[in-house]
Amino acid sequence: MRKRGCFKCHAVDRTKVGPAYREVAAKYRGIPDADERLRLHLTTAPRIRIEGHEEEHVSLAGIPDADLRAVVSWILSR
Ligand code: HEC
Repeated sequence: MRKRGCFKCHAVDRTKVGPAYREVAAKYRGIPDADERLRLHLTTAPRIRIEGHEEEHVSLAGIPDADLRAVVSWILSR
């Protein structure tokens, strides 16, 4: 995640350009397909709003599945 610049826009416990990982974990707590939804977010480069303009979210498409799973479960366990 450090290599892909995730921490430029996200921190664990405070909002930066993007939501804090702890907030993301809280939002998905109790949602049965949380894993699937985060995998989608992280592999399909959805359009996001950043400071008044739109751009594509960084995509992790193509990284090994085990790594993607590790990222998703790390975020969801914040
Ligand atoms: C250029 C800034 C930027 C970078 C780099 C970035 N993000 Fe984001 N991310 C955002 C913004 C802004 C949002 C909020 C999007 C929205 O809610 O529309 C977001 C949302 C998210 C979400 C929440 C999705 C949801 O459904 O609520 C997750 C998880 C996430 N990012 C993970 C990552 C990971 C992992 C990386 C590194 C691979 C990363 N982000 C890199 C800006 C960034």
